[in-house]
Amino acid sequence: MTVSQQFNDHLLALWNDAALKTPAFVYDEKAIREKLAILASFRQASGCRILYSLKALSFSDLLAEIAAFVDGFSVSSAFESRLADEVLGGRGSIHLTSPGIRPADLELIAKHCRYVSFNSLSQWHHYHLALAHLRCGLRVNPALSFAGDERYDPCRPASKLGVPMSLLGDGKALPAGLSGLHIHSNCESRDLGELVASMDQLINSNPELFHRVEWLNLGGGYLFDQLSDLAPLDDRLRQLQQDYDLEVFFEPGKAIVGTAGYLVASVIDLFESGDRTIAVVDTTINHLPEVFEYQYRPLVLQESSQGKYRYRIAGASCLSGDLFGDYYFDHELTIGSKVIIANVGAYMMVKANMFNGINLPAIYALDESGRIRLEKEFDYSHYRGRL
Ligand SMILES: Cc1ncc(COP(=O)(O)O)c(C=O)c1O
Repeated sequence: MTVSQQFNDHLLALWNDAALKTPAFVYDEKAIREKLAILASFRQASGCRILYSLKALSFSDLLAEIAAFVDGFSVSSAFESRLADEVLGGRGSIHLTSPGIRPADLELIAKHCRYVSFNSLSQWHHYHLALAHLRCGLRVNPALSFAGDERYDPCRPASKLGVPMSLLGDGKALPAGLSGLHIHSNCESRDLGELVASMDQLINSNPELFHRVEWLNLGGGYLFDQLSDLAPLDDRLRQLQQDYDLEVFFEPGKAIVGTAGYLVASVIDLFESGDRTIAVVDTTINHLPEVFEYQYRPLVLQESSQGKYRYRIAGASCLSGDLFGDYYFDHELTIGSKVIIANVGAYMMVKANMFNGINLPAIYALDESGRIRLEKEFDYSHYRGRL
């Protein structure tokens, strides 16, 4: 197979465009619009509201595009709330939940947010008066685990995320002044039955709870974009809204941007070591930190399981574990060959760092017609400015 046959027409520019400087983080506007369209019809059918969770990817030009298709943004910190407000400019609402609200954050949160979900009863006691003009809610923990890896599981035993149901008694113990509840209890799930089970768990353990609030934020953690049928959930949500007269929100992140990001790198060195050919690229796992944190093997677009050329793709930093993995290719890599890593739209660019003084990837947009547009480049001043 030729390399261009491995890409569809839309992605060819990642391979062919000579103006694209590597390393490059490229976000795909067409893919993001497609995901937003899926969520728009879900929103229409279910009657719930969709917020975009800024933490997944918060490049501001992109946020401005997403803003037009959602009911607001969800944020995790005072800084994110300020950014969200700058982008939204008063259109849509800003919802915050965080286990880490500090007194110093209150001014920004009070100014920029419309909804806040306290992570604990003690945070509620400390801060609700200062934030009384917001719609205040409580993050609750259904304590029903689905995520296989504890590091991703908001419902792990002795979780730090959300108030355990046992502390809320029969629902009458909900502090006065709270108007909503927040649940975020899963990670990258493709099974909406798990969401229904989490809601049932709350209702069964505390039948009064939903009657006592006006809104319910069901968080993120579900890959709506990869589910073939959202209809069973539509019905359930409509019923929930009817039974309890609730305004229901979702705040997906990865479902909107996860598959819409690419990291394009170039091979800068090739040599033999032990039984492997090492291909060093001009990027590093520090540009995709979750690869190292969670030790997963990213998807390289040109990988070919039948390929006869095997390389260990290695990052450019001094860390011996700065490795993307071993991959087979149909074609020999040479100095300058591109290596394109897919599905890195969420939780990558936002976590990328300049360890070793290696510059961050430039940011490009791939537009609907398959053209690439440079959005932002980094240089020594960005590196120096943080030190
Ligand atoms: C409270 C909350 N809401 C929403 C999200 C977005 O989740 P996802 O990107 O998996 O949809 C997260 C992710 O960690 C979260 O913690």
